[in-house]
Order: sequence, then structure tokens, then C-alpha cells
Amino acid sequence: MDIQGKVAVVTGGASGLGKATAHTIASAGGKVAILDRNAELAEQAASELGADAAAFAVDVTEADSMVAAIDAVMERFGAIHIDVNCAGIGAAARTVGRDGPLDLAAFQFVIQVNLVGTFNTLRLCAFHMAKNEPDGADGERGVVINTASVAAFDGQIGQAAYSASKGGVVGMTLPIARDLARSGVRVCTIAPGIFETPMMMGAPDRVRQPLVESVQFPKRLGEAPEFALLARQIVENPYLNGETIRLDGAIRMQPR
Ligand SMILES: NC(=O)c1ccc[n+]([C@@H]2O[C@H](COP(=O)([O-])OP(=O)(O)OC[C@H]3O[C@@H](n4cnc5c(N)ncnc54)[C@H](O)[C@@H]3O)[C@@H](O)[C@H]2O)c1
Repeated sequence: MDIQGKVAVVTGGASGLGKATAHTIASAGGKVAILDRNAELAEQAASELGADAAAFAVDVTEADSMVAAIDAVMERFGAIHIDVNCAGIGAAARTVGRDGPLDLAAFQFVIQVNLVGTFNTLRLCAFHMAKNEPDGADGERGVVINTASVAAFDGQIGQAAYSASKGGVVGMTLPIARDLARSGVRVCTIAPGIFETPMMMGAPDRVRQPLVESVQFPKRLGEAPEFALLARQIVENPYLNGETIRLDGAIRMQPR
């Protein structure tokens, strides 16, 4: 799909991977709706992109607030062609820790944001995509890009909830691609390795260093524009569908 003139919803677009993707889409001529629970950073990110971008404060886990936000996007831009789901949280706690079993609500919260929040956004975006005029030789109507993590495949100690949430995103990619095929909507997921974003910058050196060590090449953390570059390729390459792509410098994470 040619990005020029298309409308993209980017959740988590106020920071990190989502923000870089919003920039890339805008620089390719797309219009960008930044959906984020951090209203102030979302406004700031949208204002950096100019008149063809707008911010919408929303919690991806809330059904009603997401319906209202997507309605507001439709009112502002008139259509949705691209949905990039980057809103997410990290969390680390062992299944049984020093203080006893992991709090169930803590486990559920991570699933709620990373998995349910992703589905909540894409179901509404896909509903509107299905009404678009078919585009290009294949008659595409939309592209959905989800963000999982390599933790979906090689989750570390303390990552039960995070890995389960991202494994869920990987697992639903193909069935959703199958569901939406009749509407001309493609669905792919990116599974990033470790990227230099505010989420990771908070991690202490003792956590970061072993992670960098297990990257094969290039020997560094990923950079947000590299994520955005793959997101752009997924939008533009009409034959990418139903797939999860690792973007990770060949990292295979160790137990800790
Ligand atoms: N940075 C990494 O190394 C890395 C690696 C693998 C996967 N990921 C995934 O990539 C995605 C983006 O991560 P990032 O590193 O850019 O993080 P980030 O913290 O920089 O950005 C995440 C954004 O999501 C927003 N957000 C969080 N919960 C939300 C909610 N309930 N509703 C709406 N917005 C919400 C935050 O406000 C923030 O702006 C996440 O899903 C993360 O799990 C990141």
C-alpha cells in the first residue's frame, strides 16, 4: 500500500517505537493519529509532525474510550488505512517470588494492555478499513501491524506475563489475517529484540549488558527508526501477510 495520503492510527505513538513509526509514516506522506494514554507526550509528538497529525488520549484496554477515540479519528481524517499497535508495557516478576506467588492482578494487567489492548484497537480499525475503497492492483483496504517481542519465543526469568502477552499477539496474527482477508486487510507482527527506547533506557546496566552480549550482529541495541523501517516495508509490500518477523540482530535471549 502506498502510504502517500493514507491515514494511520499509531498506538503508543507518543514514545519509542510508535513515535519513530509515526515520523516515518508522516515523512512518507501519510496522515497520523497518535493514540496514547500519555496525553501530553502524544500532543507533543503530533505537533512535531505538523498539520497532518493529531493526538488522541486513550487507554487501549478500555472498550468505550477506544470506540470514542476511533470515532474521533474517523471524524478528523475520514478513514483509517494503517493501524500500528505499539502501546505496551514491560513487567518483570517471577512466578513465585520472595514474597510468594505472583499477584494475579499484576499478571492480568500485562495481558490486558499488551494483548487485549492490541486486539481492542485492531478490531475497531479493521471495521473501518473494510469500508475503504480497494487500493492498487490487489484491491487492498488496510494494513495492521502489531508489536510482539522476542520474549514471545525466548522469554527470560520473570517474563511469564510479558511473554504470555506477546505470545498471544504472535498467536492471533495468522487467524486475524485469515479473518480479514475477505476485506483486503493484511496483518503482520513485528517481534523486536532489544531496542533503545524509554522502556529500555530505564533498565540498569546489569540488565542491559548481558542483553547486548547476546546480540550477534550488529553488537548493539536496535534503534527505533529500524523498527519504523520494517513497519514501512510491511505497509508497502503487498505480499507480506499473516507473519511475525523477528527484528533482533539474531539475539536469542538467555534465561537471565
Ligand atoms: N524497547 C524494546 O526493547 C522492546 C522490545 C520488544 C518489544 N517491545 C514492545 O514495543 C512496544 C513499544 O515499546 P517502546 O519500547 O516503544 O516503549 P515506550 O514505553 O517508549 O512506549 C510505549 C508507549 O505506549 C503507551 N502506553 C502504554 N500503555 C498504554 C495504554 N494502556 N493505553 C495507551 N497507551 C499506552 C505509553 O504511554 C508509551 O507512550 C511495546 O509493546 C513493547 O512491549 C519493545
